[in-house]
Amino acid sequence: MTLSVSDAIPFSTLIRTASHEQHTEAENASFMSEMLGGRLGVEAYARYTEQLWFVYRALEEPAEALAGDPVAGPFIRPGLFRLPSLERDLTHMYGGEGWRGSAAPLPATAAYAARVAELAREWPGGYLAHHYTRYLGDLSGGQIIRGTAEKTWGFARKGDGVRFYVFEEIGNPAAFKREYRALLDAVPADDLEKQRIVDECKHAFALNTAVFHELGDHFRVSA
Ligand code: HEM
Repeated sequence: MTLSVSDAIPFSTLIRTASHEQHTEAENASFMSEMLGGRLGVEAYARYTEQLWFVYRALEEPAEALAGDPVAGPFIRPGLFRLPSLERDLTHMYGGEGWRGSAAPLPATAAYAARVAELAREWPGGYLAHHYTRYLGDLSGGQIIRGTAEKTWGFARKGDGVRFYVFEEIGNPAAFKREYRALLDAVPADDLEKQRIVDECKHAFALNTAVFHELGDHFRVSA
């Protein structure tokens, strides 16, 4: 059965259910499963983190300007911001600030970041779809990635290298997710707009999967 907005299902349920298939696809991308299986070197993890830096720059640089927006504004919480943590992680992994001059987005990452930047300027509902896809994911499955990274590459628990996954200012992630879902349920958007946000969320997952595929082309486990 396909759920639709007109069935009066809470929006948080709708967006989660509607993107379930895309979530499974992203989770099963071979780069992700090889990384989580501990079969890739730390360079792969560093390159992945670098891609996230481009994505979070696109998400967080325009955040302040969106804070007063009725749709996206309530979701803008400085406690979520990941850019400073990503920068500490990258500086740790690359042994200094040199990465700032050499970091390069893969084509899929550039397309992903460009889409987020465009939506931040033009469509707050679309921006919200990307906000949800990243931050709620980081607060959920991201914790599994952190554990693997600590174990596989020897980063200090919740320390440099995995700070991206540590939300210092969010004491209780489960409570935060509940609150976030309540905000989604109260979003001031009509059914058509909600459907468009759900579609953009699926697009957001597809953009993530495309980044994994390109990373997978660069970092293969040798047979
Ligand atoms: C192997 C990688 C991944 C694992 C193991 C994983 C695992 C999980 C788990 C366990 C949850 C919690 C479900 C719940 O609270 O009921 C979750 C939720 C979520 N994940 Fe992932 N995930 C992965 C990759 C991703 C990716 C790549 C994205 C998108 C960029 C993503 C986005 C989300 C979102 C948005 C949610 C929240 C769903 C909701 O409650 O509305 N995940 N994930």
